[in-house]
Amino acid sequence: MPADFHTLEIAGIVQETHDTRSFILGVPQSLRETFRYRAGQFLTFEVPWNGMQLRRCYSLSSAPETDSWPKVTVKRVDEGRVSNWFNDELDVGDSILVQPPEGRFVLRSNEGDHGIVLFGGGSGITPVLSIMKSALRTTTRDVKLIYANRDERSIIFKDEIDIWHTEFPNRLEVVHHLDSGAGFMSVADAQEHIRGWEDAEFFVCGPTGYMDTIEEAFKASNIDVGQTKFERFISPIDPDRKDQTEAAVPEQSDGEIPESFTMLLEGQSHQVPYEKGLTLLESAVKAGHKPPSSCEDGYCGCCMALLKSGQVKMTNHDALEPSDIERGWVLACQSRPASQEPIELDFDAEY
Ligand SMILES: Cc1cc2nc3c(=O)[nH]c(=O)nc-3n(C[C@H](O)[C@H](O)[C@H](O)COP(=O)(O)OP(=O)(O)OC[C@H]3O[C@@H](n4cnc5c(N)ncnc54)[C@H](O)[C@@H]3O)c2cc1C
Ligand code: FES
Repeated sequence: MPADFHTLEIAGIVQETHDTRSFILGVPQSLRETFRYRAGQFLTFEVPWNGMQLRRCYSLSSAPETDSWPKVTVKRVDEGRVSNWFNDELDVGDSILVQPPEGRFVLRSNEGDHGIVLFGGGSGITPVLSIMKSALRTTTRDVKLIYANRDERSIIFKDEIDIWHTEFPNRLEVVHHLDSGAGFMSVADAQEHIRGWEDAEFFVCGPTGYMDTIEEAFKASNIDVGQTKFERFISPIDPDRKDQTEAAVPEQSDGEIPESFTMLLEGQSHQVPYEKGLTLLESAVKAGHKPPSSCEDGYCGCCMALLKSGQVKMTNHDALEPSDIERGWVLACQSRPASQEPIELDFDAEY
């Protein structure tokens, strides 16, 4: 089951640009441990909207090592329900329902001195800024930020990034790409930014078209998929939109139903009984385990696990890039066995 929601207070609001605000969250002493996070992770919020309770994820734009309080930054989306609600309705002192931090879009351990390349587009700056701050403060690694925006006035955190650049002129390189002057970033542009950083750890977050371009540039520059991480900013299907769009649950024939599967979680191997129809996540929860999960709808990516053997069918894999699937990553909340070949699912693998 997804982790419980907690009530937090909006401790501060910053108008970042004409269409974007940051929200600083007050975390009481009793919840400090629950809301401990890693740079690049996100929070899930539940907000009242037109008689429904809607859920959305927002990445932390703060970093635990550099900001006193967790902060999320929400950019308005045209006709968007929750992003406009945040920007129009929330005031300092209001309370909001929030789940504890989740997500695998974080710095890998054991990367030594390899550089870090961060591609951010629009509101996709939030998790990469968090990673940038954390890496500069806690490692000696060089960092390159390539930040694409529609135009000058859309650049979120321009001053904050300038300040970090002034503090770390030899370790931080910043490239601003403005569509208004240079057009959308091309594969060739992105390859140019990658040149000289081929052995780096790469992070990408932004609009779909931007992420596709960068992914293509990685291929063209022969960057190993194991060096790259993607965070996709998508909404769940709201309850009133579900019927029209919900993907059909794949049929399972009797030949595809194993009696159990192996799950690696928190350093332990478990044999989890499997019942027809259940997802791997549901089976694990039914057996009393608590693998990471949040939306259970296939869009937040927090139940990602590495399928080391066996085959599954996923109902929805919006949160995964094609390169993630190529590497064997699956969403446990969307996966059902697709053969009797023994399944080994590793939640501990580093993304
Ligand atoms: C892990 C993660 C982290 C994220 N972090 C951030 C962040 O840091 N900052 C940020 O700003 N966002 C972030 N997002 C995105 C955020 O969660 C929302 O998706 C975003 O704010 C848009 O939500 P909304 O309710 O405003 O728009 P929605 O109401 O979800 O609509 C989005 C758009 O789709 C259209 N649409 C949706 N459904 C339909 C339909 N059935 N028919 C026709 N049109 C439709 C809407 O008209 C609108 O244009 C993140 C997402 C994820 C998964
Ligand atoms: S729990 Fe969100 S994708 Fe599976």
